[in-house]
Amino acid sequence: MHVVHYNSDKYPNISMAVDKSDGLAVLGVLIEIGKFNPNYEQFLKFINGIKYRDHKVQVPGFNVRALLPTHLDEYYRYDGSLTTPPCYPSVLWTIFRNHLTISQKQFMALATALYSSNAQDSVAIPMHSNFRKPQLVDSRVVLVSFKEDDYFWISTGLLVPILI
Ligand SMILES: *[C@@H]1O[C@H](CO)[C@@H](O)[C@H](O)[C@H]1NC(C)=O
Repeated sequence: MHVVHYNSDKYPNISMAVDKSDGLAVLGVLIEIGKFNPNYEQFLKFINGIKYRDHKVQVPGFNVRALLPTHLDEYYRYDGSLTTPPCYPSVLWTIFRNHLTISQKQFMALATALYSSNAQDSVAIPMHSNFRKPQLVDSRVVLVSFKEDDYFWISTGLLVPILI
């Protein structure tokens, strides 16, 4: 799950920020199938309102914090890119160490409800298995905000670069 932010100090809207190297900051949460997650129902229950490309649905306001794991201070951070075309390298990624769960039923709602085609198209193209392949690390480093055994740790609060 991604929470996408744009740099509103420098750009008037997300369209202007999306291709800038300091344009976007995305929080990423890894989700496993397991226990039912009531917090994710706050938008999953509206998923049938956005079945087709360009559909929009209004969702009542809710606290985004509830969609994130505990320990917001434990994360990986690196300069990366959009996961969808045009894949601009404009994203400061923060991926939390801890994962969340949604139930099998919640996962199936996500995996089967959506189409990448328009409502009026004669053939509906299901939207799944469309993830971007892992990219080369090149000269980038991944910063880690917490202690792990296999890299050098300095002190609490410092981000320590590791080579991957
Ligand atoms: C974003 O801002 C630019 C520059 O002010 C403007 O031309 C454009 O129409 C805006 N786009 C949206 C989607 O609001």
